[in-house]
Amino acid sequence: MLNTFYIENYGCQMNIYDNELIISILKKNNYYYVDNIFMADLILINTCSIREKAETTIHNRLLYINSLKRKTSKIIGLIGCMARRINSNYYFKKKFLDFILGPDQYRELPNIIKSLNDNRYFSNIILSNEETYSDIFPTKIYNRNKITSYVTISRGCDNMCTFCVVPFTRGRERSKSPNNILKECKRLYNMGYKEITLLGQNVDSYLWTKKNYIKKKIKKTSRDKIVNFSNLLELIAKNIPNMRIRFCTSNPHDMSIDVISTIKKYNNICKYIHLPVQSGSNRILKLMNRKYTRLEYIKLIELIKNKIPDCAISYDIITGFCTETEKDHIDTLNLMEYIKYDFGYMFCYSHRKGTYAYNKLKDDVSIEKKKKRLKEIINLQRKHSYEILNKYVNTIQEVLIEGNSKKDKNYWFGRNSQNTLVVFKKKNEKIGDFVNVKVLKNTSATLIGERIK
Ligand code: SAH
Ligand code: F3S
Repeated sequence: MLNTFYIENYGCQMNIYDNELIISILKKNNYYYVDNIFMADLILINTCSIREKAETTIHNRLLYINSLKRKTSKIIGLIGCMARRINSNYYFKKKFLDFILGPDQYRELPNIIKSLNDNRYFSNIILSNEETYSDIFPTKIYNRNKITSYVTISRGCDNMCTFCVVPFTRGRERSKSPNNILKECKRLYNMGYKEITLLGQNVDSYLWTKKNYIKKKIKKTSRDKIVNFSNLLELIAKNIPNMRIRFCTSNPHDMSIDVISTIKKYNNICKYIHLPVQSGSNRILKLMNRKYTRLEYIKLIELIKNKIPDCAISYDIITGFCTETEKDHIDTLNLMEYIKYDFGYMFCYSHRKGTYAYNKLKDDVSIEKKKKRLKEIINLQRKHSYEILNKYVNTIQEVLIEGNSKKDKNYWFGRNSQNTLVVFKKKNEKIGDFVNVKVLKNTSATLIGERIK
């Protein structure tokens, strides 16, 4: 009889949230979560497909886990974004795995585990058109400080950026009901959480419509039939005024003026937007099917900065997408120079099987060029981050204390509204306190300050 399980996580915040859902589902069925792979009867590997490197890491890890399996007859299940992709690799799955499940099938886990026997192997990846986990409250195991937490508001993506596997691995976009989201946030607040991050591949296209209500047969007055992202933010901000609210990811194409106004209106909504641009070249944006031009993107940022001058902005950029020339790359550097982002996440392009780019375009930028361009972007960002953080020196920042500073246990670390890391010497505070910190100096990633009364 199997009764202990362990989950190994790869990938994004969505997977972290999903792991907590899985733990909740399995616990209800009398399985015990252990955080040690050797103690587990069942090992779940929650996977990521976004770039080739993620998949290679997981392949290598499976080789190791397979050696454990041979010695101790553990059951190994691969779940998450690689599920569909690895399912077509017959040799691989037979050799290493007992079952494979896609991101919409975790409710089936208890039944699948029970039905496994020596000869039976399960894999039948189905993606759902509906939000599958709306009524499950995740068991919190990550962020052990119990101060910050994720809340998924939508799943999947309909945007079809030509480089991206997400629409194929996670399926169509669907939103969770606003009532369930609010309930989950309130519950977290009552448990002592001080900050939540609302998660979706594309939070701005969050939409709870009449159709959803009809499907779920919930009676509502016509007034509250449609809830968009701005309405949802407002609903949470108003109802839980002492909870800090963050969200991720905003797609420039879908972000509305209403959302910007709501962020401005509520003190408890953090002044920080992650707004992936991917490239500064119009030609590349078009090839990526990003649905906005460089100018539209700049206009959006100007609008944000006009309305919320202290709003921090970060980005994702891909270097070396198919056919990217040196001129396209310079367009990206110029855009960064113009906008001066607070920070960013940058990646070398990875050609992913199944995407439009893989089928129709050539991965023709050499790895050396991709890396060289990446380095230039990293260096420019470091310079900008230092300059931007330097402007905080001598200002007073409200910081939510999240834990001990990694470098020195005599210091706390936390973040301000803009999501910048702040460290300062401990006095009599505790984790979860909001405190005012005067910034004394900075690096390119951190503000260093002292607590003031
Ligand atoms: N929903 C988010 C993106 C999720 S994927 C959005 O709208 O931007 C996170 C980031 O991974 C993307 O923003 C992109 O920069 C990067 N990414 C996605 N596919 C990639 C690929 N094939 N190669 C390199 N980076 C990729
Ligand atoms: Fe991927 Fe574009 Fe959606 S990057 S997750 S297809 S917005």
